[in-house]
Amino acid sequence: MPRTLDDVSWPVLTERLLIRRGTPDDLEPTWRFRRLEEVGHWVTGFPKSFGEYRSRFEEPARLESLLVVEHEGEVVGDLMVRLEDAWAQSEVADQARGVQAELGWTLDPAHGGKGFATEAVRAAIRLCFEELGLRRVLANCFAENTASWRLMERVGMRREAHTLKESLHRDGRWLDGLGYAILAEEWRARRV
Ligand SMILES: CC(C)(COP(=O)(O)OP(=O)(O)OC[C@H]1O[C@@H](n2cnc3c(N)ncnc32)[C@H](O)[C@@H]1OP(=O)(O)O)[C@@H](O)C(=O)NCCC(=O)NCCS
Repeated sequence: MPRTLDDVSWPVLTERLLIRRGTPDDLEPTWRFRRLEEVGHWVTGFPKSFGEYRSRFEEPARLESLLVVEHEGEVVGDLMVRLEDAWAQSEVADQARGVQAELGWTLDPAHGGKGFATEAVRAAIRLCFEELGLRRVLANCFAENTASWRLMERVGMRREAHTLKESLHRDGRWLDGLGYAILAEEWRARRV
């Protein structure tokens, strides 16, 4: 059986942060930064109202993959760790179930520029490899989202794809996308 986030011993503590599973009570603390245009500009959904945010937030699949990042008791960001199957040919598809995770992140801009996102994402990658035993961790962003792809590079992810004008932004532009990933063996090699 593939391991899931339920198998991790929570919370995960880093030098400055506490990372835990998201709960329905995180609706309001995350809305405080999720409602900001500078955040919403880059992420998949930018709800226009608290009610709309609540409906999205409470979707079971979303809560299932949500982690919350706290600093000194305050919610400063959130992470997505979405376990998924790798692509595989049909005869070996069983062996590719639940072997990788897509990560996502959002940091309250009031806490930007201090390395909190870097610290939280490093911890998420560590738990993916060391606790969940995954073989690959990936992330995607708009190529224009410099802060996000620089973060991917800081944590040791490798650029695998630069797609041309394949992602539609809500402002009407078709934007380039970037895909990054790191394999378990690359992670281990960086740690020795
Ligand atoms: C992407 C995002 C999380 C990056 O935030 P960030 O503040 O740049 O990232 P960090 O918290 O890791 O901080 C890194 C910055 O702090 C500095 N820093 C200070 N102390 C640091 C430390 N101990 N460790 C690492 N960096 C540190 C770094 O030099 C860097 O600054 P720089 O960009 O001027 O070089 C943030 O911009 C965000 O939430 N954006 C909106 C949502 C979003 O885009 N999500 C991703 C969609 S794909």
